[in-house]
Amino acid sequence: MKKLFIIPAVLLLVGSCTQKGTPGTKMSESQRLAEGKTIFENSCGKCHDLPDPKAHNDTEWIGIVNAMAPKAKLSSEQGALVYDYITSVN
Ligand code: HEC
Repeated sequence: MKKLFIIPAVLLLVGSCTQKGTPGTKMSESQRLAEGKTIFENSCGKCHDLPDPKAHNDTEWIGIVNAMAPKAKLSSEQGALVYDYITSVN
């Protein structure tokens, strides 16, 4: 039991831009990014090679993560963490 789903994952759902220091977030920004990286590496290289974050811009990643998160059986919270990680390194 490592993952605590405590983040209101509205970022991805509303398709808004990533906001630093979202109010109500219990994890720090760096914890969120580390968590997102772990989920990304564990979940997004199963069906194809791990995608290169730099291959798409932030806007494109919204649609991609929305399409891929269900394939990877991620919760919307996990999807938001993956999105935040990807867009922090692209
Ligand atoms: C269950 C299998 C599966 C998983 C898990 C999966 N993908 Fe995919 N992915 C696909 C398939 C199939 C395609 C190509 C067809 C399509 O676009 O739907 C694809 C295509 C892509 C593309 C190319 C899209 C484009 O428009 O060029 C990217 C980027 C991508 N996936 C990212 C991810 C990320 C990020 C994750 C983790 C959240 C993920 N995938 C998890 C099956 C998967």
